[in-house]
Amino acid sequence: MSFSPNVVMVTGGAGFIGSNFVRYVLANSDDMKVVNVDCLTYAGNLGNLTDIADDARYVFEKYDICNTDEIVAVCQKHNVDAIVHFAAESHVDRSITGPGEFVRTNVQGTLSMLQAARAAGDVRFLQVGTDEVYGSLGEEGLFTEETPLDPHSPYSASKAAADHLVSAFGTTYGLPVLTTRCSNNYGPYQFPEKMIPLMINNARHDKPLPVYGDGSNVRDWLYVEDHCSALWAVLTKGDTGRVYNIGGNSEKRNLAVVVAILRYLDKPDSLIQFVTDRPGHDFRYAIDASRVYQELGWQPSVSFEAGLAQTIQWYLDNQDWLDQVVSGAYKNYYESMYAGR
Ligand code: NAD
Ligand code: TYD
Repeated sequence: MSFSPNVVMVTGGAGFIGSNFVRYVLANSDDMKVVNVDCLTYAGNLGNLTDIADDARYVFEKYDICNTDEIVAVCQKHNVDAIVHFAAESHVDRSITGPGEFVRTNVQGTLSMLQAARAAGDVRFLQVGTDEVYGSLGEEGLFTEETPLDPHSPYSASKAAADHLVSAFGTTYGLPVLTTRCSNNYGPYQFPEKMIPLMINNARHDKPLPVYGDGSNVRDWLYVEDHCSALWAVLTKGDTGRVYNIGGNSEKRNLAVVVAILRYLDKPDSLIQFVTDRPGHDFRYAIDASRVYQELGWQPSVSFEAGLAQTIQWYLDNQDWLDQVVSGAYKNYYESMYAGR
């Protein structure tokens, strides 16, 4: 049975995928209201939303998801009838150097959001999850929704814990929950600590491109707008209590992605610098997304080649945005992580 929300709360709507999702919903509906709840960590940037900031259907509420009572009040103030929960700490390397914040935001924060959803009247709750909760694959095989959770990094462990809480709230309290698990996203407004925008940013300054290990690790890349359309399909057409894998069917080795970026920018391969591998680095992620294909009629619309070209061009056209985020909190992080590389 399809579900048609009137007011959607988007947590983490000032981050990479959240801001693309806010834009997607406003562009694809007439009178839907979107309430963006974000506390603006280093990764949250209202500069991601300047083009829609004045849209009468959009409102920004600066709150921390861990403050349950405040979230309940925001839900009631705006008559929220669906929550799409993106807000998280999202970078694996940061989770290795500082796991505590990941437990606070991703585990306690999700618990807080679930309690708020219940208190606000059993609001439909979509948990935006990651395929990283399934662990790592060898050269063969795909993650299905039945693959046991086996997270390896503090990031994926915290996301797996959050997924379990979501499932428990569905089973125990009857909260109408849905969970997605998506592969790696790329596209406009991704913070330049993640691989693709980091490599673009370094290449434009002729700085070394730090490839972990030998660059043979594999990720399944999905253009961010395709992720947004899949989330919308799950929210409006999915069965509550169900998990949906989302993937791009587009596996690439890291080195191949880096070389493609250098080619587009007409920069030499000599910028590639192989650096010490990430501890516990998952070798390969790959998704079997046949459930969303068959049950919800969704499929990705942007090929990796077209999406990567579009993405690189977006960063070239928005160098002010890049300069702004790089010169903020990111700068210290960048210098501490990548000094000398
Ligand atoms: P991001 O790091 O770009 O954005 C996270 C946002 O959450 C930021 O705007 C930040 O300010 C906000 N936030 C953090 N803590 C908060 C708190 N306590 N209260 C309120 N707001 C808070 O992340 P992203 O890459 O856009 O990922 C969004 C979601 O999608 C995450 O849950 C992530 O696990 C999931 N996901 C990401 C990918 C990917 O490739 N990026 C893939 C699959 C799933
Ligand atoms: P990342 O964008 O951090 O996403 P995730 O770790 O969640 O998959 O990294 C994507 C891949 O790129 C991953 O295999 C690690 C690798 N990587 C590098 O080789 N160098 C880098 O500087 C970064 C940030 C990542």
